[in-house]
Amino acid sequence: MSENADDVIRVLIVDDIAETRENLRKLLQFEPDIEVVGAARTGQEAIELARETEPDVVLMDINMPDMDGITATEELKRDVRFAQIIILSVQSESDYLRRAMRAGASDFIAKPPSGDELIGTIRSLAKDARRIKDEMARLEGTGPLRPQPERIGPEGKILAVYSAKGGVGCTMIATNLAVGLDTANTPTVLVDAALQFGDVAVSLNLQVKNSFVDLASRAEELDADIVEDVLLQHECGLRVLAAPPRPEMADEVHAEQVRNVLEHLKQHFAYVIVDTSSTMDDITLTILDLADLLIAVATPEIPAIKDARLLFDLLGVLEFPKEHIFFVLNKMDRKSGITAAAITENLKYTVDGEIPDDERAVTTSVNRGVPLLLADKGQPSAKGILDLLGSIKQRLVEEVTVGNEEREPERPRLFSR
Ligand SMILES: Nc1ncnc2c1ncn2[C@@H]1O[C@H](COP(=O)(O)OP(=O)(O)OP(=O)(O)O)[C@@H](O)[C@H]1O
Ligand SMILES: [Mg+2]
Repeated sequence: MSENADDVIRVLIVDDIAETRENLRKLLQFEPDIEVVGAARTGQEAIELARETEPDVVLMDINMPDMDGITATEELKRDVRFAQIIILSVQSESDYLRRAMRAGASDFIAKPPSGDELIGTIRSLAKDARRIKDEMARLEGTGPLRPQPERIGPEGKILAVYSAKGGVGCTMIATNLAVGLDTANTPTVLVDAALQFGDVAVSLNLQVKNSFVDLASRAEELDADIVEDVLLQHECGLRVLAAPPRPEMADEVHAEQVRNVLEHLKQHFAYVIVDTSSTMDDITLTILDLADLLIAVATPEIPAIKDARLLFDLLGVLEFPKEHIFFVLNKMDRKSGITAAAITENLKYTVDGEIPDDERAVTTSVNRGVPLLLADKGQPSAKGILDLLGSIKQRLVEEVTVGNEEREPERPRLFSR
């Protein structure tokens, strides 16, 4: 039987004992649909090899000299999200198993495994890996359904960044997410819908030649050429729809026009990132109504947490789906004593991401007009943003996967059209 390269299941073996690695390899060698793409002797080596070989399934030992298999599982899953991990161990205590599952392992097989059990489990998990890989490819734009930059394709995702309290970091987060999401295959546009005092352009050091007003006034007749003319472009390639240069010009933009503009942009871009103002007006409600994901931002301070609670209450009343909310804490500081766990407990809303307080790097970035992700990515805030990017992509992947399995009924719109 000859296998298409895409159908072959890529397996990585991780064990510090040479004999075990060899035995596992032998068990798999006659399976035409399984290829052992590497064998690692330590946890660290496993992570490096996984990055290189992108396995569908990893056979992971627990006890290894440098890093145990559970820690390696956790790190490996962060890098190769689709990889499915089977823990192979003589230790079958429930505590180990629970820790392994929490770290992201998919299954457990006692050592020494039987060929049938091992091969059956690998085949079944490879299907999960394939499904996640396909969805990731689609979102990354490398799959069959990818949104094409130059033609109207499947719709992109609108990600709105909002906080009811000002100054918590929405613009910083929106700007950096947009920079991080923008690739040749996932063209992204950053929209500054904080129409009166928006500062996206200044935080990217862009001169505002055109703005939202120029699109809003033609909202009924938008086409690719008009949009192309009005969008600004950052030197990294990111397209930007700037807020008007003067606050009084914001009055010229109406909620219905904002709806038209965003609906148009999602036909042309894989991601439409919308920075918002804190005011809960018609325009903000329209943006929330359109958002595929609402990135709700708060800081670990009582007023910001109180405002987050009010926002969540309001979203509940508006029947905004909980699973479309991605709750981020910014400016996290250990010294403040307010932890994500305490906030989760208090608000009954899980914190989905955290960005540390990093005044030096963020202030320098804002003042120089160079987003964190285009400067030193080693800064704590930049690392926080990168983690956030990963989790947001993962959330979108999960949503697509769940959505494909059990399609939800269309959610009620906040406004009738
Ligand atoms: N992680 C961080 N660490 C330290 N300072 C930060 C961080 N994130 C944002 N800031 C600072 O907080 C201030 C507010 O950030 P930003 O303008 O992004 O917030 P915003 O929510 O968009 O505010 P506004 O309500 O004015 O639109 C800025 O001075 C920024 O430099
Ligand atoms: Mg702002």
